[in-house]
Amino acid sequence: MLFERPQSGRRAVLVHVEVSQRQEGEELQEFKELAHSGQFIPVAVISATLREPNPKFLIGSGKLEEIKAAVVANEAGIVLFNHTLSPAQERNIERELKCAVMDRTGLILEIFAQRARSHEGRLQVELAQLEHLSTRLVRGWTHLERQRGGIGVRGGPGETQIELDRRMIRERIKQLNKKLEKVGKRRELNRSTRRKVPIPTVSLVGYTNAGKSTLFNRLTSANVYAADQLFATLDPTLRRLELPFGKSAILADTVGFIRHLPHSLVTAFHATLEETTQANLLLHVIDAHSDQRHSNIEEVNSVLQEIGASDVRQIEVFNKIDLIPGESARVERDSSGAVTRVWVSAVTGQGMPELIDAIGEYLQRARETIELRVPVVLARLRAALHALGVVSEENLVGETDWRILIEVEPDQQTAIFQHPDFRAEMVVSRKPELDESKRLAGVA
Ligand code: GTP
Repeated sequence: MLFERPQSGRRAVLVHVEVSQRQEGEELQEFKELAHSGQFIPVAVISATLREPNPKFLIGSGKLEEIKAAVVANEAGIVLFNHTLSPAQERNIERELKCAVMDRTGLILEIFAQRARSHEGRLQVELAQLEHLSTRLVRGWTHLERQRGGIGVRGGPGETQIELDRRMIRERIKQLNKKLEKVGKRRELNRSTRRKVPIPTVSLVGYTNAGKSTLFNRLTSANVYAADQLFATLDPTLRRLELPFGKSAILADTVGFIRHLPHSLVTAFHATLEETTQANLLLHVIDAHSDQRHSNIEEVNSVLQEIGASDVRQIEVFNKIDLIPGESARVERDSSGAVTRVWVSAVTGQGMPELIDAIGEYLQRARETIELRVPVVLARLRAALHALGVVSEENLVGETDWRILIEVEPDQQTAIFQHPDFRAEMVVSRKPELDESKRLAGVA
């Protein structure tokens, strides 16, 4: 990076700013884990209650003194805030403490930067970092420029440097956006190729540290980095998942969700979550052993809603049952018989066969074979069906109609039914569920 902060050491004083009514213990624990994930060593924790936010320093001057003392006593090199700081606040506090300061967004960006593995992930992190930095640089330095202007100095070395930095940031942002656009196009291409071969996609989602990567490894035997740190995965990783009856699916691992994720980051990492919105099924991985599992589930669901993935069907995977005495692998179903929850341990492998069966069963159920009668004149509709890659059979009936068999998943079905040329009377029949012997023989 061009504009790195002065090396500050990794010994960190954590400032836990409490805004009323939050679950304090939980938030503090998560903050510590975040710091740990960012490779910092927490040496002291200071809690501050935010009654009336101080515009200059966010916190009161007494607290600031307390933090200063902690920095000196613990020989800390950085102060981390579990709260967003304005660029001015960050700078004021830095000046006051004579020590580097990082706010929550900066910390999350730092973690993302350490974890990005794919080309696209790295580009996105750099872009998000530069955008974060550019607001700081621009707003942060305007007062200096004004001062210089006031005393009639123009084009001094400092000012030139600022302008140079800004121009370089702008140029780099432009470059990165271009590169990302290209990568995005390639990804879209890959995805449409994938759509032509109708392999369903199953996405792992879940609160950070729930065990997604471990489960991903266990299910696909892929060697994805899993560690007891937040955000061990940043990029969606795709692997083929073998299912019963000779079927397969693409399994996608995604970035861990986290509460109070700055909105700009949700946008910056949209691509990593994009797979999620287009998945056929979500495996929502939950740390069943965690006391916070309920609030984590809610948090994940609300983020899913935010990114437009709340309509995708979910199976809840209650993971880490090896840590719960008396718990064992089991499957829960709703009144229609559909699987809603599977209890597993990604570490010991308990519940894996049940989970794989549940995925296979869902995908089997969700796909439907429909017979259509499409007038020959409606070439556009027929072309759309082919473009979707759902046509399994077709033949001409007389001279006026095509008889077309399509195999569709729910989302494709919706897309077809919404086509401007589509009419309900074109549906000749919806084939009954495949009988058991065909299913066992692997015939779709
Ligand atoms: P992020 O990448 O941060 O979103 O995390 P993740 O959800 O991918 O979690 P990951 O697979 O990295 O697992 C987090 C920690 O939980 C690791 O230390 C795993 O070894 C541990 N873990 C995962 N599954 C299990 C399990 O079934 N039992 C136990 N005891 N530990 C587990």
